[in-house]
Amino acid sequence: MAFPKHVRLFEMGARDGLQNESGPVIDTAIKVELINQLSDTGLTHIEAASFVSPKWVPQMGDASAVMAGITRKQGITYSALTPNVKGLEGAIAAGADEVAVFGAASEAFTQKNINCSIKESLERFAPVIEMAKEHNIRVRGYVSTVMGCPYDGEIDPAQVAAVSRDLLDMGCYEISLGDTIGVGTPLKAKRMLEAVAQQVPVEKLAAHFHDTYGQALSNLYAVVEEGVAVIDASVAGLGGCPYAQGASGNVATEDVLYMLNGLGIETGVDLQKLAQTGHWITAQLGRTSGSKVALALGCN
Ligand code: HMG
Ligand code: MG
Repeated sequence: MAFPKHVRLFEMGARDGLQNESGPVIDTAIKVELINQLSDTGLTHIEAASFVSPKWVPQMGDASAVMAGITRKQGITYSALTPNVKGLEGAIAAGADEVAVFGAASEAFTQKNINCSIKESLERFAPVIEMAKEHNIRVRGYVSTVMGCPYDGEIDPAQVAAVSRDLLDMGCYEISLGDTIGVGTPLKAKRMLEAVAQQVPVEKLAAHFHDTYGQALSNLYAVVEEGVAVIDASVAGLGGCPYAQGASGNVATEDVLYMLNGLGIETGVDLQKLAQTGHWITAQLGRTSGSKVALALGCN
């Protein structure tokens, strides 16, 4: 399999990144400014908010205000997480261009994250997907813990493939494979992808790798080589998962972009602008960037 000519970067910083910030809830104005700056980098897909219970994830409690505050740029898809119909209603009212349901390949993680079993999660997603379709809103499906679970340990790639297939059959246009706790290694990533690709065409798969063990870039290289052409990443490597203790952020978008540029793969994204945005948001949060590329470029 040859490398794809173009990779679509799906920016996670404003959602996966900020959802995990401990301490006081970040001002809505900062979230809005982050998304506005990201909108000026050439990115076409930005996950902007999460319509989940504010008791569970307080940082995302201002999802409607964030969506209302951003300056939308033509050609950019602003998406939001919607675990149930209540979340979808919020996202529709806020004018989300696209929504996402999120399940997992592990029973224990599903229970901790969304308070139900895998079977129940799929039952909950069905009306979300149906209602989104009625509103002409595309639905993305996440599968978490694809290379390991903080509670169940090893995950059988066949289980990842089965949940992915279910989400596809239910109407998700794309399945994003989450290495939630960043434990994967390249060969494992390839084997997992091979198993899933038997059930879901590779054109419909995205890689969503956290960088806890520093393997995310290598794992991405492994799956991009197999034809994956959509990568989720978070500016400055912001984030983690509130239901996976110790998990660090998504791979930094700047680092992915630098690698893709080196491979001659187009993204349409401006590295300098992205690094500046990463510099700005980490300064707001009072820390240094999690992107080695941004540090090397002298940002931060
Ligand atoms: P539940 O307690 O089972 O649901 O939570 P419920 O229907 O019994 O509702 C309980 C309360 O939540 C009620 O309020 C509802 O109104 C409220 P109360 O009567 O107690 O005041 N509620 C809501 N409020 C706002 N928006 C909603 C909503 N739904 C119910 N949509 C639920 C089920 C899914 C809601 C809950 O478990 C939850 O919000 N979980 C949050 C999970 C989350 O956001 N996790 C992080 C994102 S996933 C992730 O990061 C992984 C990913 O990046 C991929 C990867 O890395 O692997 C995507
Ligand atoms: Mg994630």
